[in-house]
Amino acid sequence: MSTTYDHLKGRTAVITGGSGVLCQAMAKELARYGVNIVILNRTEEKGQKVAKEIEKFGVKAIAIACNVVDLESVKRAEQQVLATFGSCDILINGAGGGHPGGNTTNEKLKLGDIGNPDISTLFDMTVDGFGDVLDLNVLGTWIPTQIFSKHMINRTGATIINISSMAAPRPATKVPAYSAAKAAIDNITKWLAVYLSEAGIRVNAIAPGFFLTEQNKNLLVEADGSLTERSQKIIAHTPMGRFGNPEELIGTLMWLVNEQTSGFVTGITVPIDGGFMAYSGV
Ligand SMILES: NC(=O)c1ccc[n+]([C@@H]2O[C@H](COP(=O)([O-])OP(=O)(O)OC[C@H]3O[C@@H](n4cnc5c(N)ncnc54)[C@H](O)[C@@H]3O)[C@@H](O)[C@H]2O)c1
Repeated sequence: MSTTYDHLKGRTAVITGGSGVLCQAMAKELARYGVNIVILNRTEEKGQKVAKEIEKFGVKAIAIACNVVDLESVKRAEQQVLATFGSCDILINGAGGGHPGGNTTNEKLKLGDIGNPDISTLFDMTVDGFGDVLDLNVLGTWIPTQIFSKHMINRTGATIINISSMAAPRPATKVPAYSAAKAAIDNITKWLAVYLSEAGIRVNAIAPGFFLTEQNKNLLVEADGSLTERSQKIIAHTPMGRFGNPEELIGTLMWLVNEQTSGFVTGITVPIDGGFMAYSGV
């Protein structure tokens, strides 16, 4: 069977966090194959800039300011999407990330850390800090899915791609809230895949390993451009010995959105991690 992507032409993809580093690369690749793009992002200007670049591919691209954890905000976006495109075929839930309030300073608790104002321990973490990270990643996937999947029922090629992380199968040190939230994404991906299976919507996730992007720049790169201690540890635990490039997510994305190549695939999370998950270190 020869594979083309011609049949994707004219479909509509709603991409949350679509002006971010990873999902922008996904949006551009889909546009290259004729998919119309809706960028849902907190700040409209950032989204507009990406939408303009995407229109160079000859598709229609719009940016809508939207907060994925706010049901009313997502409903307003839904109305704009329906008014412009009439439907939705592909949903990529890319908005996500961590927050210092959901992190600890150190990997393990040392008794001397307790009460040190410069060190955040488990006991200093706030309910709000932890909760905001869960909300952004879990509710921020759940709400757009609830709103947009209604319009995807029994449409040819209807598919949802969630964005998980290598922090899901094994929690990343120092980022408990983010790790728990991404583990929930893997779980929800499976639940949705089952629940929506007879509605003709496939649901899968992509789990990137470590990629240098806006949200983790401060954790991974020093002000002088050198790698932080955490970065060096990541590279040491990535058998391929480097960070990923956003373009390296594209092959899996194009496989998963194409019902001719992945029409019987639903409920999985695909790791794209340079071998990180396979490596025990001994
Ligand atoms: N960078 C990595 O190494 C890595 C690894 C694994 C998973 N991920 C995941 O990939 C996804 C994309 O991240 P990225 O690295 O490209 O980061 P990024 O910061 O470049 O992009 C994240 C985007 O989400 C948007 N966003 C954040 N909160 C939002 C909200 N409440 N409503 C709407 N939009 C919101 C931001 O504006 C931004 O455009 C995230 O889910 C992230 O957790 C990233």
